[in-house]
Amino acid sequence: MTDRPTSYYLETFGCQMNVLDSQLISGQLRQMGLGEAQDARSADVILFNTCSVRQHAEDKVLSRLGELRHHKRKRPETVIGVVGCMAEREKQGLFMKAPHVDLLCGPGELNQLPELLREVWERHEKVTALAGSLSRRTEVLARAMEYDSLEALDLSRMPGPDESVLQSYIRVQRGCDKFCTYCVVPFTRGAERSRPPDHIVQEARRLAELGCREITLLGQTVNSYVHQEEGQPVRFAKLLERVAAVEGIDRVRFVTSFPADWDDDIFRAMRDTPKLCPYLHIPAQSGSDRVLKRMRRTYTVAEYLTLMDKAREFLPNVSLAGDFIVGFCGETDAEFRETIDLVRRVEYKNIFVFKYSPRPGTAADRNLEDDVSWDVKGERNRELLAVQSEISLRQKNAMIDQTVEILVEGFSKVARRRMAREGADAAEWQPSEQDRGQEVLRDTAGAGAHVRAPRTGQLVGRTPGDQIVVFDGDESQIGAIVATRIESVTPLTLFGRFEHVVSPRRAPRPEPRPLDERNAHAHAHHAGRVTLSVIGGQSGCESHDRA
Ligand code: 5AD
Ligand code: SF4
Repeated sequence: MTDRPTSYYLETFGCQMNVLDSQLISGQLRQMGLGEAQDARSADVILFNTCSVRQHAEDKVLSRLGELRHHKRKRPETVIGVVGCMAEREKQGLFMKAPHVDLLCGPGELNQLPELLREVWERHEKVTALAGSLSRRTEVLARAMEYDSLEALDLSRMPGPDESVLQSYIRVQRGCDKFCTYCVVPFTRGAERSRPPDHIVQEARRLAELGCREITLLGQTVNSYVHQEEGQPVRFAKLLERVAAVEGIDRVRFVTSFPADWDDDIFRAMRDTPKLCPYLHIPAQSGSDRVLKRMRRTYTVAEYLTLMDKAREFLPNVSLAGDFIVGFCGETDAEFRETIDLVRRVEYKNIFVFKYSPRPGTAADRNLEDDVSWDVKGERNRELLAVQSEISLRQKNAMIDQTVEILVEGFSKVARRRMAREGADAAEWQPSEQDRGQEVLRDTAGAGAHVRAPRTGQLVGRTPGDQIVVFDGDESQIGAIVATRIESVTPLTLFGRFEHVVSPRRAPRPEPRPLDERNAHAHAHHAGRVTLSVIGGQSGCESHDRA
């Protein structure tokens, strides 16, 4: 290839872990001197960061790739890459389905991405970096070395100049060892490994310096976190306390928890540390012991319910969220009714419901029959959501006239549309990751950047319990924690009236440095935006239904 590429386009599918990976990828690309292109067709490098958790997610990527077939013929120098879970799952087979793809890179190999890109444009050959391709070194040594460079990648995080860090993710764990029978994640993201606590705290400190107020710790089974430090295990409760102690961080959340690995020290830490938000996302997946057994979830419904009861005893204000799969192999109507009973009993704040989608290579796909029709899956999906919707509405109605504190994230979708129509400036849209699909307008100009009258409109914020509140305000409130009084509600949203500022927005440090000081020299500053097409659940949800 002759000319060096100068621009990239990155589209992200799937879960929060992918959103974080995309932020790291954007940082790498900026370091290579690439700027962000407005759309795929005007970019020299087009990357899709993909999700494999359901077939639908993969179909969407294949369709996006299909749209680019003709473009690649016209502009063969464009590099097209598939990174993330789908690259890892499909491996070289993806070249058969999409021959115009040049590059495949698994989620555990992202540290190699710059090198892969150089290879493609210098040698004009197809390149891959996948977990299965370890051959030269012993696997243990190779894994250890890879782990170190993956650590370096996380630590090298350097948010782009127009990337909001107000609410940021930090990975605490990679991979998953649970092997639930339906799930592809242990195959795509590999074995469970916990990151060193001091690295996690270092990231939290740097993010706080850059203006972050809320951190969400990410792991597939985040509560099973354990890392040996000087011969002593540091478990998740301890990690939470250490992150909450970071100055400048006001709120700490974590997703997603695995019910069977719960440790009551986590409840104690949450009860005793005000910065730890009373929000728990603990998927049940089903309300039937027989289904849970077929899913290999390793807990019973009674054990799950005991855990939920204990959560409410320790944390009376706790918001509970859960995931459910409907229409799993052999799920009878009676078994589905047990799931409805569980949802009624737990009274979640919200649930995410997924129609079972068989994934090649998983135990369920090999050993069980996908015998519930798509129509029945759809009906069960709707019914479960309708039940939750009633519960959500009841819970939210009970909040009317209460005053709640919210961290203001940005303008609402409605305000954004109005501003777009009226040609308002300096507004950058990003879906809010935490909400898996709701969108807010994030202020990207930074504190103090405005000299004109502040724009006014409908703002969106979130309570510590992850309730979304919409209220009328102005852009000076973005990034602040404010008190609002709830006046009306829908099943998904609370509508409030501004009362007062609890804690004003903070000016971020003017000259951001990379998270890892050792790489301080290496960062070029170019625009970079991650295009989030759809946001999903902890281990990757390309689409979902929420109530
Ligand atoms: N089919 C449907 N839903 C799935 N999930 C994981 N694997 C599958 C699958 N094969 C759901 C689970 C998980 C969420 C992120 O996605 O509910 O918690
Ligand atoms: Fe791991 Fe969660 Fe998938 Fe189970 S559902 S295998 S815990 S990622």
